[in-house]
Amino acid sequence: MTKKLSVSMMCADLFTLDDCIRRLEQQHIEYLHMDVMDGKFVNNYCLGTDFIRQVKARTSIPLDIHLMVEQPERVLDWFEFGENDFVSVHVESTNHLQRSLEQIHARGAKVMAALNPATPICMIENILDDIDGVLVMTVNPGFAGQKMVPSTLKKTRQLRAFLHERGYSHIQIEVDGNVSFENAPKMAAAGADIFVCGTSSVFHGSAAMEENIAKIRSLID
Ligand code: DX5
Ligand code: ZN
Repeated sequence: MTKKLSVSMMCADLFTLDDCIRRLEQQHIEYLHMDVMDGKFVNNYCLGTDFIRQVKARTSIPLDIHLMVEQPERVLDWFEFGENDFVSVHVESTNHLQRSLEQIHARGAKVMAALNPATPICMIENILDDIDGVLVMTVNPGFAGQKMVPSTLKKTRQLRAFLHERGYSHIQIEVDGNVSFENAPKMAAAGADIFVCGTSSVFHGSAAMEENIAKIRSLID
């Protein structure tokens, strides 16, 4: 499966966002990662519904909406989902996970189950038929600029084996958090397919965005 980049919009310079999105289109970026935070599931607020609606209206790059909110089933109607969009809900955030996943599919989007670093893989055992991907948080969610939780590399490897053993190799694995030039190759070797790229790579201050994109692609392919 070809590796894909999901560029984290919470890490973009909002004052030059239009130019940033044009440049990402020219680089054929596969997804725009939209971190949505409610201040309850994580101790932060981020990227509201109007922001996401405006971005969606201005680009054809599919969205990768990461719902870090309590009871995500409450907010699904606040968003317009496209058939190429991904929406991820945290298994820790609702008592009605399978229903939430079904509701996202019913709205036409693809769906991922997100796992915090301490959440065991077995939590997705009974929803494998309901998901198109698994989002492995490689940091504790809520903030950019953090360091990868080391155990999440082994967890990504274990997840890839878990899916293969059960005949679900088609389910994609996304890694989110400190996807750096050092960590990305290890995450790719562990079985990750989609890489959330923020301050650790695409928006890293060491080079222009285009150079960073070429570098991260060369490291994961
Ligand atoms: C965590 C966020 C961040 C961000 C990526 O909730 O999702 O992981 O997108 O930023 P860096 O590369 O700084 O971890
Ligand atoms: Zn995220």
